Amino acid sequence: TGLATYDPGYTNTASTASAITYIDGEQGILRYRGYPIDELAEGSTFLEVAYLLIYGELPDAKTLTEFTARVNRHTLVPEQFRGFLAAFPRGGHPMSVLASSINALATFYPESLDPHDDEAVDLATVLILAKIRTITSYVHRSMRDEPLLYPDYARGYVEDFLRMSFGIPYQQWDAEPVVAAAMDKLLILHADHEQNCSTSTVRMVGSSNANVYASVAAGINALSGPSHGGANEAVLLMLERIRSGGDSVENFMRKVKNKEDGVRLMGFGHRVYKSYDPRAAIVKKHADAVLDSLGAKDELLDIARGLEEIALSDDYFVERKLYPNVDFYTGLIYKAIGFSPAMFTPLFALGRMPGWIAQWREMMKDPATKIGRPRQIYTGATERPYVPIDQR
Ligand code: CMC
Repeated sequence: TGLATYDPGYTNTASTASAITYIDGEQGILRYRGYPIDELAEGSTFLEVAYLLIYGELPDAKTLTEFTARVNRHTLVPEQFRGFLAAFPRGGHPMSVLASSINALATFYPESLDPHDDEAVDLATVLILAKIRTITSYVHRSMRDEPLLYPDYARGYVEDFLRMSFGIPYQQWDAEPVVAAAMDKLLILHADHEQNCSTSTVRMVGSSNANVYASVAAGINALSGPSHGGANEAVLLMLERIRSGGDSVENFMRKVKNKEDGVRLMGFGHRVYKSYDPRAAIVKKHADAVLDSLGAKDELLDIARGLEEIALSDDYFVERKLYPNVDFYTGLIYKAIGFSPAMFTPLFALGRMPGWIAQWREMMKDPATKIGRPRQIYTGATERPYVPIDQR
């Protein structure tokens, strides 16, 4: 074929050079722009991390205040948008609604579409970060037939996201500080993860010079699959099935190991991490504390811990180096906060948005960027003559 490599799933092919996120899968190391994930999760806030990923440096206090104010100013969505959201059937999956909504933003802000105009790109960056917080809360409320609240410019990113999601119209409502802190941490942990499926999708779409809305909406769609971000919802459904007696832990694990019906232990395994996912370690540490302080004792947490314990000492998992990934424990925290399982992957998308934008921007500035156009190994028929329909 003349092709140098054939690498299904790109297990050993670098698609780009990037200075944003570093992963050492053997040692379980994750850094954004050089900063260890645990230090960022401990000391930073989500918008600060978003700024770091997108602009390459931690902002000083003045820069962060200005950036936050700029994002806050754009958190209202056009009033017309409510009609757009209302048009989706109530049972429609929130990931489809979210991806469609972010894609639709391009129609409202034509002045922000040129991928090679720095000012337009900066505007789109702020618009997307601002609108996705409002839209994600609206997707959650629309599912429950609840009124949509207007954003409050004076509140923090996460605090106002929670207020819009759970607050009561015309009443003072503040998220519990422990809930806001946990949500902030979870968003930081999801903010970037180098060239995973959705990020590679964002780059692939953007490589044709498609606008950033089209590119990140494609990323949301890629994230929706259960092998990727959709795993956080799938984990909870799996735990609930086990609890409700639909499947015993032993029988479930037997099916996983025998690969019956393609059953996998959701929230386990990773293409790059061959040791404990450092994000999962942070989430696990906090799941207990958060559930405790919310008074939300959840027996699903015990089931999850039990599954992990079995898996980590079982040859099947040990030989394959399968450890819990970020999606294994996050759903239990989201559930305790009050989100339904269908909202878990939209929350992942909310967190990942700064990473997608940072990667799209890096690609647009990289002189080495070419349109993504992989080759193939053709396996079809050799040449054969056309047979008219009456002779077949
Ligand atoms: N349960 C049971 N077996 C598994 C699992 C699992 N969760 N994950 C991998 N394996 C087995 C797999 O069957 C294969 O075994 P064998 O060598 O006998 O054929 C071996 O481990 C290697 O798996 P693979 O499918 O070749 O690995 P991959 O790198 O292509 O897939 C993965 C990575 C994340 C898609 C996969 O581990 C998986 O499906 N996990 C469950 C879904 C999940 O939790 N996804 C979230 C990923 S992390 C965050 C995110 O991206 O959202």
